Amino acid sequence: MERYIVSGGKALFGDVEISGMKNAALPIVVASILTGEKCVIENLPSISDVRKSLDILAAMGAEVNYKGNNSVEIDSKDVKGGISPYDLVSKMRGSTYLIGAELARFGRAKVGWPGGCDFGVRPIDQHIKGFEALGAKVTMDTENGYIYADAPNGLHGNSVYFDVVSVGATINVMIAAVLAKGKTVIDNAAREPHIVDLANFFNTCGAKITGAGTSVIKIQGVEKLHGCNYTIIPDMIEAGTFMAAVAATGGKVNIKNIIPKHMESVSAKLEEMGMKIEEFDDSITIEKVKPLKKIQIKTLPYPGFPTDMHPQLTAVLCTAEGMSTVTEGVWENRFRYVEELRKMGAEIEVEGVSARVNGVPTLRGAEVKAVDLRGGAAMIIAGLAAKGTTEITNIMSIERGYDDIVGKLTALGADIRKIEE
Ligand code: EPU
Repeated sequence: MERYIVSGGKALFGDVEISGMKNAALPIVVASILTGEKCVIENLPSISDVRKSLDILAAMGAEVNYKGNNSVEIDSKDVKGGISPYDLVSKMRGSTYLIGAELARFGRAKVGWPGGCDFGVRPIDQHIKGFEALGAKVTMDTENGYIYADAPNGLHGNSVYFDVVSVGATINVMIAAVLAKGKTVIDNAAREPHIVDLANFFNTCGAKITGAGTSVIKIQGVEKLHGCNYTIIPDMIEAGTFMAAVAATGGKVNIKNIIPKHMESVSAKLEEMGMKIEEFDDSITIEKVKPLKKIQIKTLPYPGFPTDMHPQLTAVLCTAEGMSTVTEGVWENRFRYVEELRKMGAEIEVEGVSARVNGVPTLRGAEVKAVDLRGGAAMIIAGLAAKGTTEITNIMSIERGYDDIVGKLTALGADIRKIEE
């Protein structure tokens, strides 16, 4: 069993280089198969979810050539639809994008039910609504866990209005629409930076997409896309996780290779807690200069405070002065990690979608589980701040989304190691 052992109490100092964004890399890797040509994707994070996506494409017939740790060439000329391996697809959420991609390239799709972190129900009704608006018929084989989509007359552009702001549905319908006949208009679209990154990738391949980053995205279908070289944007959640770690442990760290604009909501909350933050062109310096104060957080779709930073900030608030509140505005149940923090002496009460965090003077090391990706990051942050040793199990959920987190933290002076038994 693999575990992380964290000895707390060390302040963090130095520079950390942020990797490419997981939630941009996953759709872009899948979307590359729409070109049927060679795409070179750079600044790929070296994480297991990206490796799984590439394994899925390889199993579908793509030629995948890694060029070092962070770059890959994908030749999708010989890709076939309907044969993605169920055991890989069912382990990650990003595999839903295969439905849009297979529909766009082959006019039909067969994909296993996607997995990913467990936050309660994770419906895909908005994805399906979008595919159907473009002319596909979608059916579920719930017994065997497959989703089928079929557009015998091809996909045709249309208006799609989403009832909820969904990153996944926005991405999936963009993927389905780029090669459709005519114009698609997505209304109430998600505005996350990774949506813009996907649009930029597609436009580099010859697509005609405007409005990404606003709530109305317009896609004029084109007949063909061509291969390209594309560099993924930096991961704002990885950057925010390191910022949170400095808030919890103290010290001063320069977070490099980021887009500071993407960090605004996280920086604002950390400043409100008392952290000193300086912004540069492509980096941020964060320093702990005084004890942390209580704050209120509510997660929202971008540009609101990101749900994917909620557990990490809760871990920081465990030792801030006073009673903080964290309200989850995106997922119905993202608080499973709270029980683990309690094992470390945290005082947290959860009621519905809100947690009240009563700051304690210090956390103590304990054996805890990474219940999901960001919940696992929260365990690392708490462990770095705690007195004593913390043992974190189920670390594969952390390694799904963080590129060399142990190496990067160690370089900043943290005492964290991975044990493989
Ligand atoms: N929703 C629906 N119907 C749908 C789709 C979504 O009701 O058809 C609801 C969900 O239940 C949720 C809300 O809409 O309440 C937002 O879900 P969204 O579709 O935006 O989430 P996602 O695409 O499944 C991605 C990220 C998550 C991140 C969310 C929100 C990927 C692979 N996953 O999920 O990232 O929390 O957007 O920003 O991009 C993570 O990286 O740790 C992670 C969980």
